[in-house]
Amino acid sequence: MAHDPRRGRFITFEGIDGAGKSSHIEQTLAWLRKRGHEVLHTREPGGTELAERLRALVLAEPMDALTETLLVFAARRDHLERQIEPALAAGRTVVCDRFTDASFAYQGGGRGVDAAILAQLEAWVQQGRQPDLTLWFDLPADEAARRRAAARAPDRFERQDLSFFTRVREAYAQRAQHAPGRIHRLDALGSREQVWQRVQQRLAATGWW
Ligand code: TYD
Repeated sequence: MAHDPRRGRFITFEGIDGAGKSSHIEQTLAWLRKRGHEVLHTREPGGTELAERLRALVLAEPMDALTETLLVFAARRDHLERQIEPALAAGRTVVCDRFTDASFAYQGGGRGVDAAILAQLEAWVQQGRQPDLTLWFDLPADEAARRRAAARAPDRFERQDLSFFTRVREAYAQRAQHAPGRIHRLDALGSREQVWQRVQQRLAATGWW
């Protein structure tokens, strides 16, 4: 479907924990603003008061995989309705740190939730809405674990073992295969500057800005 020029673009950032997307999100925001775009910077789970409360539960409380899935999609529904859709309608660019691809990767690949359940929730919650562009920072699970160890105290997901993150990475790769026009794999190995060059190239290649 052609993009309505009055609407903003919806960009998401994905990757296993430790892949390094956070610093590139900051640089992307500056890159977009320098080009005169009004940007909403947000994240998932989260982005609204209610969704941030759900995030705190999902990241800290023990729960089974389906409960976790329902909570991240409940958070997503609130976030879409109250933040993302109004911002896009007002012509703002939305930059979101993770979105539904993370549910397919973490709840699907990592926790083993059936992809058919995820696809049904995606259809109900998003009513066809998808990001216009997804940058997937891809890094081997062992390298990401090394980076995480140097960086911060782990949350519930970050405490998972290497095999969990290997499955998450594989699920991202599968998802990327099914949406090649939207999801772009970025090699997240290398220096921050090298990866940022790749991000910039990818952003410029869209021809949107
Ligand atoms: P993350 O985005 O890495 O934030 P921070 O940099 O503050 O750690 O953390 C969010 C976690 O939530 C991450 O481990 C992946 C997980 N997550 C899911 O499991 N499912 C989802 O649908 C989303 C959006 C995130």
